[in-house]
Amino acid sequence: MDFKVADLSLAEFGRKEIRLAEHEMPGLMATRKEYAAAQPLRGAKIMGSLHMTIQTAVLIETLVALGADVRWVSCNIFSTQDHAAAAVVVGPDGTVDNPSGVPVFAWKGETLEEYWWCTEQALRWPDGSGPNMILDDGGDATLLVHKGVEFEKAGAVPVAGEDDPEEWAVILDTLRRTVSEDKWWTRVAEEIKGVTEETTTGVHRLYEMHKSGTLLFPAINVNDSVTKSKFDNKYGCRHSVIDGLNRATDVLIGGKVAVVCGYGDVGKGCADALRGQGARVIVTEIDPICALQAAMDGFQVTTLEEVVGIADIFVTCTGNYGIITAEHMSQMKHQAIVSNIGHFDNEIDMAGLTRIPGIKRINIKPQVDEWVFPDGHSIIVLAEGRLMNLGCATGHPSFVMSNSFTNQVIAQIELFTKTDEYPVGVYVLPKHLDEKVARLHLDALGVKLTTLSKKQAEYIGVDVEGPYKPDHYRY
Ligand code: NAI
Repeated sequence: MDFKVADLSLAEFGRKEIRLAEHEMPGLMATRKEYAAAQPLRGAKIMGSLHMTIQTAVLIETLVALGADVRWVSCNIFSTQDHAAAAVVVGPDGTVDNPSGVPVFAWKGETLEEYWWCTEQALRWPDGSGPNMILDDGGDATLLVHKGVEFEKAGAVPVAGEDDPEEWAVILDTLRRTVSEDKWWTRVAEEIKGVTEETTTGVHRLYEMHKSGTLLFPAINVNDSVTKSKFDNKYGCRHSVIDGLNRATDVLIGGKVAVVCGYGDVGKGCADALRGQGARVIVTEIDPICALQAAMDGFQVTTLEEVVGIADIFVTCTGNYGIITAEHMSQMKHQAIVSNIGHFDNEIDMAGLTRIPGIKRINIKPQVDEWVFPDGHSIIVLAEGRLMNLGCATGHPSFVMSNSFTNQVIAQIELFTKTDEYPVGVYVLPKHLDEKVARLHLDALGVKLTTLSKKQAEYIGVDVEGPYKPDHYRY
């Protein structure tokens, strides 16, 4: 088996944590049970690009339990938990000397070159073929396949790049390495039945591609299942933003001024958590509806420029570009903490920070850097501007990821087994499946659901078994 992880001897530790996580992931375990006999993913060759954590290990082994042949990478250079990666490679029945699990190409602290090399490796099956399904988080695997096809169509010449020139140069190198292989990317893309996408930023990329007519295969937007974005993005970040801050800095949050940029699902979770720790939370927003929500929730809403000099902690949650600039950072208080929990690192202008004349970087520990300005004051930047909850801590806990990943498994089954029902486009799962995911998580929390009477169901115009809300309901 081909694979590349940090240290296989960590597998035993990883396996113990996987065992504990399985108990906290009732949705995934129920899905394993439900489909054990039917094996709906037999014949599926799934390439996954999603943070290689303990929770993801349970997802991977669920896909395998349903019959899939799986290869995996992390979708971020800092988010891999090396013990989880090792345990997945060794597998539940293998040994360190004789691994029999799933090929994983991921370790904590990859370079950009290594990151794209890993992505390419996970897309290549040992017989030279590619996957027939992608499970993506942020859209990098989908992007590489699409750029590969464009590159080959253009006669192996560079095509339009991404925003980040450094990263684009690495992607181009990856594509150039494949020039000799007669239209490999085109052949791979033709075999792909679809992609299921985990996060807001990846979904945004998919809709853009579909709008411009360049999307090559159907996609299920897992993020916008209610049981994903209204849970993982919100309650997941409510947990892991504090974990990231604590493990990175251990600074007391109570009494501090914290700025949360963006009051979408992630921002709502982060603002709530910081307030829960006793911080005075200030929100920035561009959307009047979200700004009004933040105000009604009791937060001060203002611009970053107004508060950049008084805040102690900054967290960007926008999924947008250039939120905290180098100029902002130079105006911050001594030892202000600057962090991003959005998917990509371009929310904070790290490149601009490095270009400030006379600036000095002092590495405190992995994923924590102090940047000292020429006037002597400094700021503390977490995870080099990449998502701090996975870079500095271990991301979301199992229970909330069970909701997200049960949606992922259902979406994989939908696309793989009902290919004809999904022409190229971007879809969300039907509401009855969303409700099913929620239902699978109620018992574990001791929730007792009220059952509608037939009369009540008729009165509000729904079926006793659901769905209980129209598609436009916002929760
Ligand atoms: P969302 O679209 O619900 O919220 C983003 C908010 O940012 C919106 O309300 C938008 O109006 C606001 N915004 C945009 N530009 C802004 C600007 N210049 N200044 C202030 N506010 C601005 O998106 P969601 O679901 O909250 O996701 C945000 C990011 O977090 C995405 O990149 C997503 O992929 C990522 N994410 C990260 C997770 C993690 O574990 N680190 C988990 C889930 C999502």
